[in-house]
Amino acid sequence: MISPILPTYNRAPMAFVRGHGSWLETAEGVRYLDLGAGIAVNALGHAAPELVEVLTEQAQKLWHVSNLYHIPQQELLADLLIAETFADTCFFTNSGTEACELAVKMARKYFYDAGTPERVEILTFAGAFHGRSSAAIAASGGEKMVKGFGPLLPGFVHLPWDDIEAVRAAVTDKTAAILIEPVQGEGGIRPAGDAFLKELRAICDEAGALLIFDEVQCGMGRTGRLFAHQWAGVTPDIMMVAKGIGGGFPLGAVLATEKAASGMTAGTHGSTYGGNPLGCAVGCKVMEIVSDPAFLDGVNARGGFLRQKLEGLVAAHPDLFEGVRGQGLMLGLKCKVAPGEIVKAGYDQKLLTVGAADNVVRILPALNISEEDMAEAVRRLEAAAEALSAA
Ligand SMILES: Cc1ncc(COP(=O)(O)O)c(C=O)c1O
Repeated sequence: MISPILPTYNRAPMAFVRGHGSWLETAEGVRYLDLGAGIAVNALGHAAPELVEVLTEQAQKLWHVSNLYHIPQQELLADLLIAETFADTCFFTNSGTEACELAVKMARKYFYDAGTPERVEILTFAGAFHGRSSAAIAASGGEKMVKGFGPLLPGFVHLPWDDIEAVRAAVTDKTAAILIEPVQGEGGIRPAGDAFLKELRAICDEAGALLIFDEVQCGMGRTGRLFAHQWAGVTPDIMMVAKGIGGGFPLGAVLATEKAASGMTAGTHGSTYGGNPLGCAVGCKVMEIVSDPAFLDGVNARGGFLRQKLEGLVAAHPDLFEGVRGQGLMLGLKCKVAPGEIVKAGYDQKLLTVGAADNVVRILPALNISEEDMAEAVRRLEAAAEALSAA
């Protein structure tokens, strides 16, 4: 018999009833150390007091008004995002998937309005993950995601990862945009690399195409810069943001230059909940905290500390691990065994990590995790590795 919840998830056998900082607790009072942060969502940890305060304050005033009216919290958050990025304008969504939908629509509308409606193609990369809507699965193209869900939204060209010549060869007069995660998350913490992103920018400029960065997972301070592409010194025309921006409240955004967004006039897009006062009040507080250079310095310092500890773990267990990759607090343990085995052995030690493709275990803790918690987490990973090696 089918379960009351549609069985689309392979769930671990725990349920949490409360959280604090980097710790989660079950109804029985068992505490787990969380290195997954809701897959890069709880940027400031669980029940961050600053976020609880703004959320409850806003909840007592106003939860929802339609986008038929001005929403001051939205305007404030847009100003904060625009001040820190390449963008001139911003649309708020509830998720990364919805941000993907708009990014695709925006790119195509730009070329339609420019009198080149044949420019619809969007180039994407192997291992990409942009969400689960029809557009997002078509963008990713991965067999696991698209099989059985056809007919797929046309107009996506799938390219191998890290192959600039393949990109050059794929750009035609039908190309509207290149869409890429500066660091692939679900794909296994795979950084595109600064040189590759710079080349993509140059290719787009030459072809008059738009460059779209999906920073849903790697953005909002995760890599130690507010947005991962800032390490490379290139800017996109459109960017998708979600996850960390709401610190656990469902919130996403599409940021764009005035030029890229020029087709999105009144009536061309909308959302009932996108940019609601609750989400935007929280988003403003997250932005205020995470965009502070001192906070980002802290992410880099924590990332360095954790990485060093993880390198030690890898060196001690060459039978299980191949190496550490990623940047800041977006780290991946490349495994020699199935990553699910490491994740499961971690559960036995009351430690939460997240599997990914390419045989990688993701380490995505809260951006404010303490040194003590990081050291404890690696001790638990050591114990998990020892138990696995001994088995
Ligand atoms: C890079 C990237 N893009 C898009 C998405 C989709 O976001 P959401 O699950 O909020 O719809 C995800 C989610 O994991 C992601 O990692």
